[in-house]
Order: sequence, then C-alpha cells, then structure tokens
Amino acid sequence: MDLPKGLAGVVISETKISSTKDAKLTYSGYPIQELKDASFEEVVYLLWHQETPTVEQVQDLRKLLVSEMKLPDETIRLIKEVAKEPQHPMSILRTTVSLLGTTHNEDGLDQPPVILAKMLTAIAAIIRLRDNQKLMEVHEDWGVVENFMYLFTGQRPSPEYVKMFSTVMVLHADHEFNASTFTARVVASTQADYYSCLTAAVCALKGPLHGGANEQVFKMLAEIRETGIKPIDYIEKQIAAGKKIMGFGHRIYKHGDPRAKILRGIAEKMAQTTNNSVYFDLEEQIANYMFEKTKLYPNVDYYTAVIYHCLGLDSSTFTTMFAACRTTGWMAHIIEQQTDGTLIRPSSEYVGEMHHYTGPIKAQA
Ligand code: SDX
Repeated sequence: MDLPKGLAGVVISETKISSTKDAKLTYSGYPIQELKDASFEEVVYLLWHQETPTVEQVQDLRKLLVSEMKLPDETIRLIKEVAKEPQHPMSILRTTVSLLGTTHNEDGLDQPPVILAKMLTAIAAIIRLRDNQKLMEVHEDWGVVENFMYLFTGQRPSPEYVKMFSTVMVLHADHEFNASTFTARVVASTQADYYSCLTAAVCALKGPLHGGANEQVFKMLAEIRETGIKPIDYIEKQIAAGKKIMGFGHRIYKHGDPRAKILRGIAEKMAQTTNNSVYFDLEEQIANYMFEKTKLYPNVDYYTAVIYHCLGLDSSTFTTMFAACRTTGWMAHIIEQQTDGTLIRPSSEYVGEMHHYTGPIKAQA
C-alpha cells in the first residue's frame, strides 16, 4: 500500500483559520504580507473570530489581555518550584501549562484571552526565573507586545522594537495544520479541556524538526563563530555526516517560506542596532551556500534565531517565544475542532506477521 509518509499532502479537515494554499500564507483570507503591519491584538481577533475587528473591539481585547497578564502568586510559586532544577525552558513550559490547568481555574475552561495572557506572562516568568532575575510588573496602559517584551527583557522597548517584534508575533501566530496545531486538534477532538490541548501542543513544538529548530540555528551560528570554521566547511561537514541544517527546508514551502523573507529584514535591522551583524552575516553566507548546494530555503525559524539573540535571550529559551506567539493559533484551532465535534481517529495498515498464540516459549539454554 502506497501511503503518504508523515501525512504529507493529506487534507484532513476544512478550516477557516488560515491557509498555505499555493504556498501563500493567509489568515482568514488575508495575505500575511498585508497583515505584517497590523497590531498583534488585531490578528488575535481575526484568527479567533475570522473577521477583522472594529477599533473598539481591538481596544477591548487589548484591555482584557493586558488586565489578565498578571499571574496568580500560586502559579509563580509553582514555576519557581519547577524551575529550581536546571532543565530546558520548554520542559518547564510544558509543566507550567499543565499546572495552569490545575491551579489557575478549576474546570480548565478558562476563556481564550485569559489563557493567552497567562501564557505570555508565564513564558516571560520562566525566562526571568531561570536567570534568577526579578519579575516585572504589567503596565495597564501599554499594549500586549510592549508589556510582553518588558516582562521578559526587564526593559521598556523602543516603539521601533515593539513594531518589529509585533511583526514577529503576527508572523508566528498561526500556520494551518503544522505538527503542534494538529496535535492540539487531536486532543481537542476528544473534547478535552483547553490546557490539555495546549500542553500537548507545547510538547510537539519542542522538537528540533518543528519549533525547536530556532535554538539549534543559533547554536550552529555560535559554534561557527567560536571555532572560526568557515561556514561552507561547516555545512559540508554536517551534510556529509547526514545531518540536517536547522532552519532550512519546509514541508509546504519548496520555493521559500514567505515569513522568512520578512523576518530576514527584521533580523538585519536588529543585528545592526545591537552590534550583532556578525551573526546576520554568517546567516547570509550559510543561506547562500545552502541554496547553491541543496536548493533549500530558510524557514521561519532561521532568522528568528538572530532576532531573539538581539533581544538578549539565551538560545535555550527561543522556542518558548515561538510558543508565546503560536498560542493564538492553537486556541483558534482548538475551538474550531471542538465546535466541529468530530473525533480525529485515523487508521493504520498493519505490516507485521500474523501468529497463533501457544503460551510462553522456554528460553533456549
Ligand atoms: C517549523 O509545518 C509547519 O507549518 C511548521 C512551521 C510552523 O509555522 O509551524 O512552519 C514551523 O517547524 C519550521 C521547520 C523547522 N525545522 C527545521 O528547520 C529542521 C530542519 N528542516 C528539516 O528537517 C525539514 O526540512 C522539515 C522537517 C522542515 C520538512 O521535512 P519534510 O517535509 O519531511 O522533508 P524531508 O525531511 O523529507 O526533506 C526532503 C529532502 C530530503 O532529501 P532526500 O532524502 O529527498 O534526498 O530535503 C532534504 C532531506 O534530506 N532536507 C534537508 C533539510 N531539509 C530537508 N537537508 C539538509 N538540511 C535540511 N534542513
């Protein structure tokens, strides 16, 4: 039986949330190139309601999200407990999301804005606590992105940086049936609660073939910089050893990820203004050589490695940033799946041998 490996090309459901048809990314029908300048809150509204908001609706959503960004003391205490032992921030996040589902609300049926707000603050708290830094206070009169950046960096960002990071968050907000979203939808299809769906999504995002790639991209850049190896020699060596180059290739986009093109400009600008051009230049050399050698293009995780580094983040925390942005899309898909009400339960083709059971066999002496 000829089965599509990894469900490649298999359409498993209809959706009104986003599309990558013809390699063009759209959110509820709006091209990503037009939405990159919309505010994060507008895009959250669009993905959750599948229509653009009025000015009042954006303001209301912003106010609600910001007002819910404070974490309960009990949650902070638990994150501190979980983060006591050195472990990967995505592992801490996985446990934190699960804890939020048991401590923050009793029935696990919090509303999406509350969940998104708590996710952002929890991720910022994980980043600060793992470095023993004090937690920052939310400013009610600032926007969501400005607050989020303040919470994880400890400094009020400039309007230019808020704009650039807002675009990063918008570009990551959703991506139809990627691995973590599909995972969330499978759990949602059993009518499990939101936090269970989100915990599962975080687990799927962690892997280096999905969201975990951004951390690996920076590790590659740092290794090249530290060892002084020529980028071309590094790539040659990795490929000869049968290793994948992180941040390249995509299941859908075979001629370039539209998000990477926009993120490249942001990475270049941030690198210039933070004295990190050495990393951006390395990325340029690697991307040029990768195209020459493999015809593969950078994906969404390639340039964000430099962007997150420029924001002062440790590479181990990069994937938690992806989770912060993608929570919007996860929530939209969880709700769409639960509303649809169909259980996701595919079939498999057994290819082992058939036997007749005759009891335990004595081991040969
Ligand atoms: C994300 O799907 C989404 O929507 C995900 C995402 C989102 O928004 O949610 O876009 C975010 O997860 C981006 C991807 C991050 N992962 C990486 O950067 C890891 C490195 N990339 C790959 O492992 C790979 O390209 C994937 C996982 C992204 C896509 O895998 P596919 O579609 O299964 O393709 P494949 O691995 O079968 O590759 C096809 C060919 C192979 O060569 P052949 O066996 O045909 O000779 O291309 C080669 C691969 O070996 N190849 C690579 C490569 N990616 C593909 N070779 C070297 N380096 C790479 N990165």
